[in-house]
Amino acid sequence: MQISGYLYALIICSGLTLSVPALKSANDTPALLLVSFDGFRADYLNKYSFPNLEKFFSDGVLVHELTNVFTTKTFPNHYSLVTGLYAESHGMLASIMYDPVSKRHFSIKNDSDPFWWNEATPIWVSVEKNGYRAAAAMWPGTDVKIQNHTLKYKYEYDSKVPFEERLGNLTQWMTMDRSVKFATLYWEEPDWSGHKYGPENTTEMTKVLREVDNHIGFLIEQLNKTGLWGKINVIITSDHGMAQCAKERLIKLNDCISPNSYTVVDLTPVAAIIPLQDNSTIYKKLSSCHDHMKAYLKDDVPDRLHYKNNERIQPIILVADEGWTIVKNGSLPRLGDHGYDNTLPSMHPFLAAHGPAFRKGYRMSSFNSVDLYPLMCHLIGIAPEANNGSFAHVRCALVNEQCGELALAVGIVIGVLIILTTFTCLFKLMKNRDASSRPFARLELDDDADDEPLLE
Ligand SMILES: *[C@@H]1O[C@H](CO)[C@@H](O)[C@H](O)[C@H]1NC(C)=O
Ligand SMILES: *[C@@H]1O[C@H](CO)[C@@H](O)[C@H](O)[C@H]1NC(C)=O
Ligand SMILES: *[C@@H]1O[C@H](CO)[C@@H](O)[C@H](O)[C@H]1NC(C)=O
Ligand SMILES: *[C@@H]1O[C@H](CO)[C@@H](O)[C@H](O)[C@H]1NC(C)=O
Ligand SMILES: *[C@@H]1O[C@H](CO)[C@@H](O)[C@H](O)[C@H]1NC(C)=O
Ligand SMILES: *[C@@H]1O[C@H](CO)[C@@H](O)[C@H](O)[C@H]1NC(C)=O
Ligand SMILES: *[C@@H]1O[C@H](CO)[C@@H](O)[C@H](O)[C@H]1NC(C)=O
Ligand SMILES: *[C@@H]1O[C@H](CO)[C@@H](O)[C@H](O)[C@H]1NC(C)=O
Ligand SMILES: [Zn+2]
Repeated sequence: MQISGYLYALIICSGLTLSVPALKSANDTPALLLVSFDGFRADYLNKYSFPNLEKFFSDGVLVHELTNVFTTKTFPNHYSLVTGLYAESHGMLASIMYDPVSKRHFSIKNDSDPFWWNEATPIWVSVEKNGYRAAAAMWPGTDVKIQNHTLKYKYEYDSKVPFEERLGNLTQWMTMDRSVKFATLYWEEPDWSGHKYGPENTTEMTKVLREVDNHIGFLIEQLNKTGLWGKINVIITSDHGMAQCAKERLIKLNDCISPNSYTVVDLTPVAAIIPLQDNSTIYKKLSSCHDHMKAYLKDDVPDRLHYKNNERIQPIILVADEGWTIVKNGSLPRLGDHGYDNTLPSMHPFLAAHGPAFRKGYRMSSFNSVDLYPLMCHLIGIAPEANNGSFAHVRCALVNEQCGELALAVGIVIGVLIILTTFTCLFKLMKNRDASSRPFARLELDDDADDEPLLE
């Protein structure tokens, strides 16, 4: 990676470029379908069997692990995937939020106030502002009037609508209306079972992951039947992973601070605390509360979490260690949870892609989930909004981008040629100057004679 990066830099600096972007008219840009299976932890792929998913990526791309954003919760990460922004920049910071300026409350059960979404512009709004259409089946936010924009092809969120119906209506919209260039589909599993049984309950996880894989089989079949398979680009990914919790791993806030000294906005595994007295007293008590919980004053949240610059972040943030649960005084609420530090592998999802734009049988170890947004904009052919992702991190997944061994070999040859040419030119130049430029010659040779024969 580093060598090829260096070579690219060299080539670009030399005014050459290896990749010539294909110019496509709007109409033959293939549509893009983005699918999320909530809570699909990356290493489920190593521990369970997925015959249909394997069929999907064996003919496409597999990214083993995505580094997602903090907090590793559903809404923050689904919004990062479609905006390319960290949570502090898109404003969807947690499952439960409070805005101290407007005094409004947010919860995922009541998410329809555009106020919470309007700090960013999701890709489906940009797609429609570019004259195309977008279609959506329950992806978080797609039924909200974000940036004053309502989708024509969308569902109101209803967890009871089966997978087959969500997908069936989506493919109907896509085949009926060729201006649909972006479609998105959301499914609640394996998140729901991961919370209920814990990711280490292999009996239950085997069951639900087989179901998820069958859905992927149905997806391939349905796309094939409607003539979309192989014609459109499809990305299957997720928002976060899942960690095993246990009743032995509880952190009780009321053991450390008095219940009437604080308000809790969100509780676990990342707590948002508003002290009712002064911040520093409560902070001191919380910072020595438990070995498996870190406490941060808002301004001291580590930069790498990108979780500081937003009104909706409360004065004190508590972060539990992997597998630990924060409660006020209660018992363990669920056997599996997510939301923890986004550097933990257990919090990472995977990504797989298939379609004309993608390489076949290609594997990548990882990229950032915010990098997906510039990739999707590239695939649809629209200009991305300002974002935190990088197309350079993901371009190697694409068939039209020169990458890998061939590019490296070509890069090395061109690089060597450039170096040789440069040296030859320099050498000739110096020789020439040696002969023609007297001041230079004088510097080098003290007894330079005026009657130098070469001057003639
Ligand atoms: C949902 O949120 C809206 C706007 O924030 C609020 O007016 C309404 O009362 C909430 N509804 C429920 C059921 O909590
Ligand atoms: C939203 O759209 C409505 C009707 O199209 C318009 O009256 C209103 O001014 C718009 N609001 C904003 C904030 O753009
Ligand atoms: C899906 O499409 C069918 C047929 O057009 C329609 O009857 C059904 O209501 C749609 N489902 C939803 C949830 O809108
Ligand atoms: C998995 O969950 C089922 C259903 O709750 C339970 O009966 C079983 O004992 C669990 N297995 C393990 C290994 O925890
Ligand atoms: C698509 O359908 C055709 C005809 O039924 C079948 O031969 C082919 O194997 C299917 N392709 C996939 C990927 O399922
Ligand atoms: C606590 O900290 C927040 C900033 O994080 C600040 O707005 C608030 O005024 C502080 N409260 C007190 C009582 O100092
Ligand atoms: C917290 O739990 C303890 C023992 O489990 C109980 O005695 C106490 O009343 C509880 N406190 C609150 C505020 O619920
Ligand atoms: C993320 O992108 C937004 C929009 O361009 C920008 O305001 C913000 O500073 C970026 N964050 C970082 C950490 O670069
Ligand atoms: Zn989720």
